[in-house]
Amino acid sequence: MDYERPLFFRVMQYANAAERDVVDMVSGNPDWAPPEALREGLREYADLSVEHYQYPPSEGLDELRAAIAAEHDVPTGSVLVTNGAGEANHLGMAVGLDEFPGSEVLLTDPVYPYYAGRAELLRADARYVAADEQGRLDPADVRRAASEDTAVIVANSPNNPTGAVYERETMRSLVDVAEANDALLVSDEVYSRFDHSGRFASALAFDSDHRFVTNAFSKSMAITGLRVGYAVVPEQLRPAVRTRHMLTNVACSRPAQYAVLRALRETPPEYYRANRELVADRIGTFTAALDAAGADYVTPEGAFYVLARFDGYPGTLANVERLIDEAGVAGMPGDAFGESRTDWLRFALVTPRVETAAERLTEFFA
Ligand SMILES: Cc1ncc(COP(=O)(O)O)c(C=O)c1O
Repeated sequence: MDYERPLFFRVMQYANAAERDVVDMVSGNPDWAPPEALREGLREYADLSVEHYQYPPSEGLDELRAAIAAEHDVPTGSVLVTNGAGEANHLGMAVGLDEFPGSEVLLTDPVYPYYAGRAELLRADARYVAADEQGRLDPADVRRAASEDTAVIVANSPNNPTGAVYERETMRSLVDVAEANDALLVSDEVYSRFDHSGRFASALAFDSDHRFVTNAFSKSMAITGLRVGYAVVPEQLRPAVRTRHMLTNVACSRPAQYAVLRALRETPPEYYRANRELVADRIGTFTAALDAAGADYVTPEGAFYVLARFDGYPGTLANVERLIDEAGVAGMPGDAFGESRTDWLRFALVTPRVETAAERLTEFFA
């Protein structure tokens, strides 16, 4: 895979340059509003005194860390505020490779491409465990693949791109496999607020010094541009993780943390429920159109992506470009997510025009 110029950017550029109207179903940027309290927090920040314009603590604002810790019932000292889930995932993988024996990272196939890119950047050996057609992961397969060479196991539930939500027992087994092989489980839970199955289980339910949980407000508060995420770090890894974070970033944006803290305190559960229901409605609309078009698809149990396969129309970059030109719908080629889904396309349901896209696809494939 070419990480200098991710496929994502190439498809976006192609769609932007198209001469016709295109529904963008490429990116993972929510199209709904952030919480009102978040906007208020940002407005309020502008008038704060000069010391609020200076470095915050490197590990994050104390009150934000305490609020995150309270939400998950973990010690405040275990929480590190990061530049999105992206940085948290990077820290988990990098420190896992440094601090645990072995040089191998276990990933799933299909895979969120940035994990695979990071494994390459960190010069780790990536080994893939196939998920089933529905994107579910069989822990027995992970157990078989793991060995003394394994330093890190990366899991992501709710999953991008499949939408799978792993069973509680799967999460427990992944923690067990990490422990049995003296490895670190990095559990990316960035879509935890988008669980349509009611079955989401956090790895935090299983106390272990072999599990590193990452999350962010990017998706839950529709603020991918603010860059506030976090890691829940086992005690023995905290010094190494903090040092890496500090030497890379110094600290994270103070106004963004302040606004997120205010939003965490004041946002009612209805905000999250309404956005989850919006996505669930879109899943219904879109999968009905896929049925009409005779496509195979994976019904997402969580997150906001749909993987679909159209008979005789593999998800190559060329076919993605043709879909942009001839149908006016932009998705991601399955190639981007590993070898198992090269026939598939991924559509992100973060546009108010899901219905238009659905109609266009039905017509195109009719
Ligand atoms: C599985 C997964 N993890 C992490 C991220 C990045 O999250 P953040 O924007 O908080 O860095 C994404 C973004 O799409 C994602 O899909």
